[in-house]
Amino acid sequence: MPQAQTATVTIRIATKDDALAAGKICYDAFAAISNAHNFPPDLPAPEAGIGILTALFTSPGFYCVVAEVGGRIVGSNCLDERAVIHGLGPITVDTSVQNLGVGRKLMSAVLDRSSQRGAAGVRLVQAAFHNRSLSLYAGLGFDVREPLSCMQGRTQQRSVAGCTVRKAASADLEACNVLSHRVHGFDRGADLAHAIEEGTAKVVERGGNITAYATDLAFFGHATAQSNQDMQALLASAESFGGPGVLVPSRNAELVRWCLLNGLRVTQPMTLMSSGLYNDPAGAFLPSILF
Ligand SMILES: CC(C)(COP(=O)(O)OP(=O)(O)OC[C@H]1O[C@@H](n2cnc3c(N)ncnc32)[C@H](O)[C@@H]1OP(=O)(O)O)[C@@H](O)C(=O)NCCC(=O)NCCS
Repeated sequence: MPQAQTATVTIRIATKDDALAAGKICYDAFAAISNAHNFPPDLPAPEAGIGILTALFTSPGFYCVVAEVGGRIVGSNCLDERAVIHGLGPITVDTSVQNLGVGRKLMSAVLDRSSQRGAAGVRLVQAAFHNRSLSLYAGLGFDVREPLSCMQGRTQQRSVAGCTVRKAASADLEACNVLSHRVHGFDRGADLAHAIEEGTAKVVERGGNITAYATDLAFFGHATAQSNQDMQALLASAESFGGPGVLVPSRNAELVRWCLLNGLRVTQPMTLMSSGLYNDPAGAFLPSILF
């Protein structure tokens, strides 16, 4: 597609029926950039891309768009609107039309939406080896906030003294939201409520208080903790992490070293970026692949 034709790109709201075409593009685009840098693909097969986009395109609290050229879908982007901070992604563009302006249009569509909705900020996580996505986001006003190490494995230490890890229940929601406010300045209660319903969420209790929670110990889950000790309890409770792994902030040297000493392996470097409000977290955290 010659550059002049990018003017013919139209952006519209995604529907469930778009997930088949957009999901294949999502798989191909991530596989292509990962292969080019000798990293394993984020998604195991096209069906995973289709499954994720079917879920996002039909989930309340998400605003999703597709890009079309001549009636053919050439990319998609999603915005998680469930908190006062919005989470962006996955954004992907058909490999045959990348670097021609389609990604910028998909970004503008969800950033316009986010500002119309009065979000305090927008965040995303990008593959640190991807020059183009870093440049696109930085050019659109996103600042690099945290280098992340995606980590996978099973910790040798299987529990942390004084910390009890258990499945989260609806009754834990309020305490988790208070914890999130203390650490991040806002809560992600809708996301956590959904994870509790799905049965993936966990909490840590220490000294009679909830000191950490995770929506899931996985690429698509986030975790917030009062201290590294509480985060270690969550990590030690998992047999493995869903998808490519959990996203450990690389500047949290104590936590990173604990993970390494416990046998976890780094699978890829990633970067947390933000536009708008950002507070340095006052505690330990693992962002999800959205933020
Ligand atoms: C990342 C992606 C969505 C971007 O979409 P795209 O249509 O290729 O990107 P665009 O052409 O709109 O924008 C690319 C921008 O990066 C710039 N750019 C590209 N390579 C660059 C480099 N090496 N250095 C500096 N700038 C660069 C381009 O000039 C353009 O900037 P501009 O908008 O200011 O002109 C797409 O490439 C993709 O699907 N990649 C694989 C999947 C992926 O990594 N998704 C992102 C997940 S976080």
